[in-house]
Amino acid sequence: VEEIALLAQKIGANLIVFDRDISPSQVRNLESEIGIRVVDRTEVILDIFAQRARSQAGKLQVELAQLEYMLPRLRGRGREMSRLGAGIGTRGPGETKLETERRAIQRRIAQLQQQVNQLQAHRDRIRQQRQKQDIPVMALVGYTNAGKSTLLNVLTNADIYTADQLFATLDPTTRKLVITQPETQERRSLLLTDTVGFIHELPPPLMDAFRATLEEVIEADALLHVVDLSHPAWESHINSVQEILQEMPAIPEKSLIVFNKIDRVDKGTLAIIQQEYPQAVFISAIERLGLDTLKQKMLQLIDESVEAI
Ligand code: GTP
Repeated sequence: VEEIALLAQKIGANLIVFDRDISPSQVRNLESEIGIRVVDRTEVILDIFAQRARSQAGKLQVELAQLEYMLPRLRGRGREMSRLGAGIGTRGPGETKLETERRAIQRRIAQLQQQVNQLQAHRDRIRQQRQKQDIPVMALVGYTNAGKSTLLNVLTNADIYTADQLFATLDPTTRKLVITQPETQERRSLLLTDTVGFIHELPPPLMDAFRATLEEVIEADALLHVVDLSHPAWESHINSVQEILQEMPAIPEKSLIVFNKIDRVDKGTLAIIQQEYPQAVFISAIERLGLDTLKQKMLQLIDESVEAI
């Protein structure tokens, strides 16, 4: 702690972020030792999600996650406020206010949970309709900022918000894509759905709040796993995404790795990775490179997943 305090002073830091989740009392102790505001990564991630949430569904889910994160932390503060006395009649005004606050938050959480359930039911109905139409569905998954929304846009000309920001997409967006088979000229339709950006160790309150969104993944016929190949940590991003997928109750059997942003990767490196991942597709969504190959591979994947059923 001393080391951190010294370093913080040296570089003039005004905020310390812990990469691990830390308990409310740890936050308090650290803040009083170091004298600088202390937060953990979940709080930062929740903040970013809150800033990025655009649609009502996204905002709803983020608020739920934020409140679920906040509730136990209120309790932490409560203990501090009631430190002055114990027993009947000694509950200070701070504690009473806290109780009221806590109950209000619990009520709001219950309300939001109900709304998320409704959202889930609504999505279920939409999915059932889709299944009736018998159009195969592919879900785009990938680490945040991999380029999922951009890819969905260029493939389907949809206008989804993309930005060089983390978690630009908080709501799944589904678009229809028609692909022509080169040999038979047969036109095939499929639905492509964008999902929330994955991150290393997605905090549990977020997993829970975004269950309606993540269900799109479970229900898809196949997955397109988009990877930002220009990111130095692309390999660990692949692992993080796979870890999150493993935690889901069921995932589609078929998936395809799509290495994106090859316009930012030098040819030598690209050749090595192409050898390492012979099954993958290499594209640049922005430069529209490799999209035809991708579409054909998508068709193959859908055919294989239909055969698997
Ligand atoms: P989240 O919503 O955080 O999950 O991100 P996302 O995976 O949907 O990424 P998004 O499509 O928002 O793209 C992130 C950034 O990468 C944007 O600035 C895009 O312009 C950029 N980007 C996407 N594809 C490419 C590409 O092929 N090449 C380059 N150079 N940049 C790209």
